Amino acid sequence: ANGLFTYDPGFMATSSCKSAITYIDGGQGVLLHRGYPIDQLAKHSNFVELCYTLLFGNLPDDEQYAAFQARIRNHTMVHDQINNFFKGFRRDAHPMSILCSVTGGLAAFYHDHMNIAEEEDRVISAVRLIAKMPTIAAMAYKYNIGQPFNTPCNELSYAENFLYMMFATPSETYRVNPVYAKAMDRIFMLHADHEQNASTSTVRMAGSTGANPFACISAGIAALWGPAHGGANEAVLKMLDEIGDDSEENIQRFIDKAKDKNDPFKLMGFGHRVYRNFDPRARVMKETADEVLAELGHANDPQLKIAKRLEQIALEDEYFIERKLYPNVDFYSGIVLKAMGIPTNMFTVIFAVSRTIGWISHWHEMLSDSYKISRPRQLYIGNDQRDYPQN
Ligand code: SDX
Repeated sequence: ANGLFTYDPGFMATSSCKSAITYIDGGQGVLLHRGYPIDQLAKHSNFVELCYTLLFGNLPDDEQYAAFQARIRNHTMVHDQINNFFKGFRRDAHPMSILCSVTGGLAAFYHDHMNIAEEEDRVISAVRLIAKMPTIAAMAYKYNIGQPFNTPCNELSYAENFLYMMFATPSETYRVNPVYAKAMDRIFMLHADHEQNASTSTVRMAGSTGANPFACISAGIAALWGPAHGGANEAVLKMLDEIGDDSEENIQRFIDKAKDKNDPFKLMGFGHRVYRNFDPRARVMKETADEVLAELGHANDPQLKIAKRLEQIALEDEYFIERKLYPNVDFYSGIVLKAMGIPTNMFTVIFAVSRTIGWISHWHEMLSDSYKISRPRQLYIGNDQRDYPQN
């Protein structure tokens, strides 16, 4: 329609929605956020600037950036009573179950007097969610390990504040490692939005009923939780541990297992519903893994070595070549997060913290235009009409 891409009316008849937020060319391995390529954003922007761009459509000028950052900082704390939510969970509750529950519960504190038909009320809900997700995520981690919650420190950047809330303790001064902060900000940017993936479509479907934004984001968290979607980076590390070393024999055994149609095992972190080329995020994530591990003096990290060798052997394998299967964003992200001391059960939580801006931007975009309740159709394959037995 706008000359940049071919416009196929037939496609519009079958597609789920129109959106101007993110464009993916799966064949070319292109990912644009409001027209900006992800590799350029990851190198030159930061997560808060990307949040503004995804939500409002253009890069902010200095004044808009400062005002947006101040608005986020103004909402990083959660209502004191939300602390009580945590006491009901078992100590070993998966942090995704905590995040999903507490996020839905935010509606009880921040939604009753809101009118989502008003743009300003939608924007303030978006700002509250962007601001509070890192706080709730860090609280879930602290609850799991039995340490006191940290209050957000608003003089820090978004990524620094998250790492501070995760790892600071009252008993000693905590300094955020700038390499970790840069890697965390990049991970937040790389997972921010990805067009109509399963969890974003879930948020749009829930939003189409008029449900409040906190309930919609909680639905998105639930969809992201699955190992085929957001849970893959945790599964990649488990797979690398099972492979054990970067010997060709061990790696080939897992590749053969992934190719075996009788075996449900898939190579985690490989393949994608849309990409038939490299996921551009995976390239940036691989560079980030090299940077962070080199900084730690672990350039020869065993899992990174296995991952690189696995990628090399898989990309030379006919099965993967024929099916155009490449590493996706999850293939290297877990290695970086683990190197920063983040436990595997927090990986998908971090994905959800990042993807909140994508989810809420799509929700805001849909409600800013006329929309109808989502009602997918089905292909009925059941019985023809038949009478109830009269006896
Ligand atoms: C994310 O949608 C998004 O945008 C998601 C996401 C986002 O940012 O929101 O990008 C995040 O979810 C990334 C994907 C994370 N998941 C994983 O890494 C799990 C491992 N990947 C696979 O489960 C799989 O690749 C999927 C689920 C991602 C996609 O599955 P599809 O749609 O079945 O893939 P396909 O149609 O391209 O498969 C074609 C063939 C099939 O075999 P044949 O029937 O042709 O013989 O390739 C096979 C598949 O079985 N295949 C794999 C494989 N992925 C696909 N075989 C082995 N290992 C794999 N990883």
